[in-house]
Amino acid sequence: MKHIILIILAMILLACGTDNTLGGEDHGNLATSDEGIILTEAEHPIGWGEADCFFCHNMENIHQTDRTGTGLNLEGIRELTQDEGLASCATCHGTNGL
Ligand code: HEC
Ligand code: HEC
Repeated sequence: MKHIILIILAMILLACGTDNTLGGEDHGNLATSDEGIILTEAEHPIGWGEADCFFCHNMENIHQTDRTGTGLNLEGIRELTQDEGLASCATCHGTNGL
């Protein structure tokens, strides 16, 4: 019995660990928050004032899922961020306090 519980627990934990690769980072529907996709200190307390976005955000893990339901051109966003890297982020997400 103990073993079965441990196995189930392990399966649940593993499922959580791999979840991120399916839909990418999930911060809910950004379009419905106060400032939309423009970063504010209140919505981005840990990353506020930081220039190196890739220190915390993995390119492979962002812009993967459209949570706005408005038909975002995510492929276009991914292409732009691949081409222009960090220089592109402020175009859509604002200055991040810099
Ligand atoms: C030190 C780590 C760190 C850095 C550097 C960082 N972020 Fe973040 N970012 C986070 C965390 C953690 C979250 C989750 C929300 C929170 O708790 O602040 C987040 C959330 C976000 C979100 C979702 C915001 C929302 O409204 O939920 C966006 C967009 C974002 N970051 C963009 C950026 C951009 C663009 C940069 C570079 C200018 C950047 N981040 C740099 C840690 C960081
Ligand atoms: C052409 C506009 C555009 C550019 C450029 C852009 N983003 Fe985004 N980003 C968005 C949109 C729109 C969303 C909201 C996606 C959603 O909620 O469906 C988003 C969401 C995010 C999120 C939240 C997680 C997610 O995938 O929804 C993070 C983190 C983020 N962007 C980081 C960055 C970083 C870092 C850069 C620079 C390399 C960048 N963005 C460049 C438009 C852009």
